[in-house]
Amino acid sequence: MKRFYIETWGCQMNDHDSEKFAGTLKGMGYEPTADPQDADVYLLNTCTIREKAEEKVFSRLGVLKSYKQAKNGEMIIGVAGCVAQQEGGSIFQRAPYVDLVMGTQALQSLPQMIENIADKRGRQMDTSHHKDNHLFPVQTIERRSTLKALITIMEGCDNYCTYCIVPFTRGRERSRPAADIVAEAQHLAEQGFKEIELLGQNVNSYFAETDFAGLLRRVGQVPGVEVVRYVSPHPKDFNRAVIETIRDVPSIATNIHLPAQAGNSWILKRMGREYTREHYLEKVQMIREILPQASLTSDFIVGFPGETDEMFQETLTLLELVGYDRIFSFAYSPRPGTGAIKHGDPVPHEVKQTRLHHLQALQAQIQEKRMQARLGEETWVLIDQVKPEDKFPLCGRTRDNALVHLQGDWGQPERFYGQKVAVRIVGAGMHSLRGEMI
Ligand code: 5AD
Ligand code: SF4
Repeated sequence: MKRFYIETWGCQMNDHDSEKFAGTLKGMGYEPTADPQDADVYLLNTCTIREKAEEKVFSRLGVLKSYKQAKNGEMIIGVAGCVAQQEGGSIFQRAPYVDLVMGTQALQSLPQMIENIADKRGRQMDTSHHKDNHLFPVQTIERRSTLKALITIMEGCDNYCTYCIVPFTRGRERSRPAADIVAEAQHLAEQGFKEIELLGQNVNSYFAETDFAGLLRRVGQVPGVEVVRYVSPHPKDFNRAVIETIRDVPSIATNIHLPAQAGNSWILKRMGREYTREHYLEKVQMIREILPQASLTSDFIVGFPGETDEMFQETLTLLELVGYDRIFSFAYSPRPGTGAIKHGDPVPHEVKQTRLHHLQALQAQIQEKRMQARLGEETWVLIDQVKPEDKFPLCGRTRDNALVHLQGDWGQPERFYGQKVAVRIVGAGMHSLRGEMI
């Protein structure tokens, strides 16, 4: 029996691609193994969004080389994902024991490439742009969860934010037909999946025969689908129709990720974000009016080229004005080939770290208050983890994606797995809530 092992770094799109690789390999007669050293095919699915991604990949490949040597060379090592797309054949030069380089749009070439390697036809590489990669056959997906399913709705990005590598690694935007997406959601609901996460590099610029609002409504109304989430959105595409759809369809998540990146309009312009601070705040205002129960989250980059202390202060004041429930913050890292590379990386490392620290400290204060304010709230939680021996045997997420641990004595807590239960919030930490069933 031939075995495979897949190691996945990066975003949900990579997680889902790995589910597609797994299904493809199973279709070829391979079985998954829990022991990486035992694999006949080892795929490393990589990410290059920030910092020394290439170095990390080559250092990991050094370890895989030792696995391969221990098996007398009987291991096919493949590099997939965004580093593979970006580096292409140079991976073979630096790591000659690699057999396969598979770009982000070459999923359907995998069987042929594996066969060619097994037939001793030498190394294989496909980093070409397959325009129909997003139309991958859904019956071939080997899903890791039985509760939560990832669905590709579009691939690629046409925004070209000047710091971002994604348009180069994932190509131009392509949307899947809405009817296919809805059919996939229906099929998954019939199989017992409760939660759907719609995936794309830029989900809300989705456009096939309907727009993102239309698609959300259709997926949200599929019988049996209890929660619909989506990742990643761009603030420019959050229009009134999307927010009203979220308000009107109870299964659609109410957490809104509105990645600001910075609070200063000059920096935003230099980042190519297509909104000013004022436009962004108007959007926040619109969301608060239409969907007051929304929780807002954001991503921030500190130390983008040209960012002065005064400009950074505007990121801090934006945090105070908006009141995010959570933020993800990063030090700027220059990415090869992107628009901002021409500005160099003038903000010193220590300055970036200090700004990051300030940002996170301010958010901690804001977050603590916001979490405390939820005490007494009554809400539903979709249970997605059961640990009978734990002090909190049940765990799940609210409509707005807050993590809730549930205390109580229910005999067989397993029966709650995948159930939506009514809960009162009785405790709040920085990253999670505690609740009681009501
Ligand atoms: N440097 C630092 N952070 C980055 N991000 C994307 N590209 C870079 C970069 N070059 C961050 C952005 C984005 C998140 C996924 O990663 O904040 O929203
Ligand atoms: Fe990483 Fe971005 Fe590629 Fe996802 S799309 S794997 S986050 S570089």
